[in-house]
Amino acid sequence: MLITGASRGLGRELATLYAADGWRVIGCVRGQASFDGNIETHSLDVSDAGSIAALGRALEGVAIDVLINNAGIRGDTGGLTTLDGDEFLEVMRINTLAPLLLARALQANVVAGENRVIANISSRAGSLAEGTLDDDDGDYAYRCSKAALNMATVKLAQDFRKDGIAILSLHPGWVKTDMGGGEANVPVATSADGLKAMIDQAGMADTGSFRSYDGRRISW
Ligand SMILES: NC(=O)c1ccc[n+]([C@@H]2O[C@H](COP(=O)([O-])OP(=O)(O)OC[C@H]3O[C@@H](n4cnc5c(N)ncnc54)[C@H](OP(=O)(O)O)[C@@H]3O)[C@@H](O)[C@H]2O)c1
Repeated sequence: MLITGASRGLGRELATLYAADGWRVIGCVRGQASFDGNIETHSLDVSDAGSIAALGRALEGVAIDVLINNAGIRGDTGGLTTLDGDEFLEVMRINTLAPLLLARALQANVVAGENRVIANISSRAGSLAEGTLDDDDGDYAYRCSKAALNMATVKLAQDFRKDGIAILSLHPGWVKTDMGGGEANVPVATSADGLKAMIDQAGMADTGSFRSYDGRRISW
């Protein structure tokens, strides 16, 4: 399996969990990272299309059973008054465009894999139906980027159906990581366990769906 943003947080936990389960894991990091388990690292800055293309070239001919688009940033949370155009576009580049470019760059690798699953780590914050039900954070860029990522999931599901690749949008919960903060109510290990279970059992019946780490379906 290949996962982006493996240096810390949920990405690191998932990489470690898959490795402990005996998988060959390619953990993509933009800086330096060392792991205890058997994890091969690749350099990848998902905000750089050239870096994504280079990863695709480096992995040519390598079968990838599962691709997890996990790397993400929160961006400004100050609401409309502090919204900055360049920063907004950077959040979109990392959270929305990069998963699309990675799906394209690694499509043949995933076709050659056994599971044929691409999991986009999205967020309930990007759900038009549920995202603002229980909080009113001023994170315009983040919410827009995850809503757009959800459409990317649906479009990829349509395009990759012929290849038998299932595409999922997954909500990891409010997770205790640097992004989630100390008040978050889901331990990172619990989220990773739940996400792995969802990914491992995913098939074409699930393609184009939006699910939470605990199995619940989330409305778009
Ligand atoms: N935590 C939550 O409550 C929560 C809730 C809903 C959804 N999510 C989603 O879950 C995913 C993981 O979040 P997290 O909580 O683990 O966040 P985190 O602790 O802030 O970790 C973010 C990861 O993304 C990587 N990353 C950021 N920009 C990158 C770039 N340009 N290129 C490559 N890697 C980059 C970071 O690498 P560096 O170490 O190099 O910065 C880091 O590994 C994200 O997609 C996030 O939106 C999280």
